Amino acid sequence: MNIITVKDYDTMSKMAAGIIAAQINTKPDTVLGLATGSSPLGTYRNLIEMNQNGLVDFSKVVTFNLDEYCGLSRENPQSYYYFMMENLFKHVNIPKENIHIPNGLAKDTDEECKNYELQIKKANGVDLQLLGIGFNGHIGFNEPDDVFHNFTRRVKLTQSTIEANKRFFESADDVPRYAISMGIKTIMSARKIILVAGPEKREIIDKLREEVCTPQVPASILHYHPDCTVFWAEKE
Ligand code: F6R
Repeated sequence: MNIITVKDYDTMSKMAAGIIAAQINTKPDTVLGLATGSSPLGTYRNLIEMNQNGLVDFSKVVTFNLDEYCGLSRENPQSYYYFMMENLFKHVNIPKENIHIPNGLAKDTDEECKNYELQIKKANGVDLQLLGIGFNGHIGFNEPDDVFHNFTRRVKLTQSTIEANKRFFESADDVPRYAISMGIKTIMSARKIILVAGPEKREIIDKLREEVCTPQVPASILHYHPDCTVFWAEKE
């Protein structure tokens, strides 16, 4: 794992967008794994600008998002589907049928998770996975635990994640308690990974620098990925 300290969030976002655009320009039918949250927002803004200026074409790109809250519909402004539409998809020329986000309203969650894995497999796996990181070291919604969980499944959110994400809801009580998340093995199977983190993530990034791999810090598994770069922005 390569940890690169970047001077600020804008620079980090430009670098991440540049890597994603280069990947798409090299392989137009790239399969992207995508994250929501405040960390990748700047990256998405840059990709939108590049797409609108004709510098990157999303017409053949296929995407799989990391996760979705259980119990929220796609129309719910707090759902990750809504977030992705507002902050990336509706501004670029990606065909709607190429977008994959777990269905938080699926009647049979296990079936939905199995199906999601199958769809990723059918797409021949993820070429480039973009990640954020939780204060507790989660990636996707793979929370600290005694073991690493391999595949896409329903997860119970930790109190720390509920607290961190309540800023998007009216209160902590409104934050869903469960989500569907890609597993650690799903994430690790991506051929290339980039993780973006703002200055507020200093403590957890320092933890990653210790190079200890433990399921109590799920992102620490990335030390074993052959092509993973972490961008940490020192300032806003
Ligand atoms: C979101 C996701 C999460 C976030 C993490 C950081 O799809 O998978 O792991 O990346 O919670 O969130 P922000 O970027 O909002 O600090």
